[in-house]
Amino acid sequence: MPTSASSHSQPNRRTNARRLRRWALCAAAFGVAGLFGFAAFAWRPAIPEIATPPSSSFSAGVVSRGVMLSSAGYCATCHSVKGGQPFAGGYAMKSPFGTLYSTNITPDRETGIGAWSKEAFRRAMHEGVARDGSHLFPGFPYDHFTKVSDDDVDAIYAFLMTQPAVRAPARPNELLFPLGIRALQAGWKLLFFRSGRFEHSPDHDAKWNRGAYIAEALSHCSACHTPRNLLGAERSGSARYTGAAVDGWFAPALTPANPSPMPWTAEELRAYLFEGLSRFHGAPSGPMSPAAHGLTALSADDREALVTYIASIGGDASRSHVAAAAVNRALQINATSAGRQIDRDAGLYATACASCHYNGSAGVNASRPDLALNSAVHLADPANLIRVILFGVGGSEGANGLVMPAFGSGFSDAEVARIAAYLRRTRTDQPPWPDLEKTVGEIRAQGKGEG
Ligand code: HEC
Ligand code: HEC
Ligand code: HEC
Repeated sequence: MPTSASSHSQPNRRTNARRLRRWALCAAAFGVAGLFGFAAFAWRPAIPEIATPPSSSFSAGVVSRGVMLSSAGYCATCHSVKGGQPFAGGYAMKSPFGTLYSTNITPDRETGIGAWSKEAFRRAMHEGVARDGSHLFPGFPYDHFTKVSDDDVDAIYAFLMTQPAVRAPARPNELLFPLGIRALQAGWKLLFFRSGRFEHSPDHDAKWNRGAYIAEALSHCSACHTPRNLLGAERSGSARYTGAAVDGWFAPALTPANPSPMPWTAEELRAYLFEGLSRFHGAPSGPMSPAAHGLTALSADDREALVTYIASIGGDASRSHVAAAAVNRALQINATSAGRQIDRDAGLYATACASCHYNGSAGVNASRPDLALNSAVHLADPANLIRVILFGVGGSEGANGLVMPAFGSGFSDAEVARIAAYLRRTRTDQPPWPDLEKTVGEIRAQGKGEG
């Protein structure tokens, strides 16, 4: 038996080798064809340079619309660095894939977009392709800007072209190999990107549709509030707006899954987004702070439209019955835990926080956010609460003139963790946060960041 097997093995090995060679050749041929195919698919032409259009070629009306639109699209937030020239780029966006730096979008000819035609600018906003034909990374939220109307894109272009030109070469990105290869972005687009302007929903009225346009296209709320998949694309369907980690913070769900016991009614959204302080929910801090600042440029009608749309995602009407009970409960916790010195953690909270975060029987005062109602205490992720305790809420965040002091230098990681755990234990029905002290240490090491 062994002999006959070995006598057969020679020709077998030869056919195997031949098969393997043929297979390898085929694969190589397919590979080369595929590579050419992909290159052809990924290739975009350069759009010729133009002479920079003079400011006088744009009408004042269009430019001022561009001011409003670029504010609501937060262009300056991502295209400027602290202390730098507006729109000159260099803002670092950190992600699991490395660091991406925003570019100069002032009308400088060499380092900015001074030689870009309106068509080149539209293609960048709608397709995520630069003037020279290279693919842009989706850290630039073109997956939302693709929905912005041609008219609005043109108004933003007009505004940017009338800004001072600043010479500022782009900082090279630090992305993990091979993610830095721009042509590969064509593959990402094939999987996750659908180009196309905003489509009105016939099931809703004009106001709702206008709000949806602002939120989904220009103001890209879901870029932060929707969780992303492993390749960094927003998840779709029922995952939309269910909350996501962003820049060391957690952008809470805007759906009925929002963890605060208080529903996000139109009234609360209005106060939070446009006045910087909601009576029941506190203030927009961290990455939400520049977003809220940007939205204040919207017209009164557009604000109402946005509020209508976001309230409809949150199902505000269906949750409104819980509001009164939640407030009563919060006030009761205030009353029973104030001045209670037997519990060491309650004592720490009373000394550090209760002087400002105490509400008496008269009801909840907006300038003393009630922590039993605040999402930060109810979220599965303790980052927002820890950040607010360590770094405070600065004068430029939240409501004008209201500041919450930073406790980072006065309190150890263990003390911050104790306060957070105490609030979680006494103000929510949620399970305790694990490894709190370690998390406080990590967040302290990261620092406050750009937000
Ligand atoms: C969330 C951050 C973010 C926001 C908001 C943002 N951008 Fe950008 N943008 C970027 C990044 C990052 C890049 C660089 C992408 C790359 O290198 O592929 C970029 C690139 C661009 C480019 C391509 C420039 C070039 O030289 O190739 C244009 C044009 C642009 N942005 C315009 C805008 C406008 C207009 C707005 C506001 C409506 C805006 N961006 C808002 C992050 C942002
Ligand atoms: C750059 C990221 C980013 C963008 C863009 C953004 N948000 Fe936020 N949002 C956050 C973060 C982070 C928080 C948590 C802030 C805090 O705790 O103070 C937040 C908080 C909120 C809250 C409060 C939720 C709660 O339960 O406390 C609301 C409401 C909200 N955002 C609405 C919006 C809307 C509407 C838009 C679009 C018009 C938007 N956000 C765009 C990051 C963002
Ligand atoms: C000197 C008054 C003061 C003290 C002391 C204080 N806070 Fe605040 N806190 C505020 C104000 C004011 C705001 C609203 C921020 C704004 O509008 O700028 C706030 C907001 C908050 C928020 C909500 C932030 C958001 O994103 O909605 C949390 C959570 C919070 N404080 C927790 C604490 C904790 C915990 C302590 C004790 C360690 C504490 N605060 C001590 C004044 C204070």
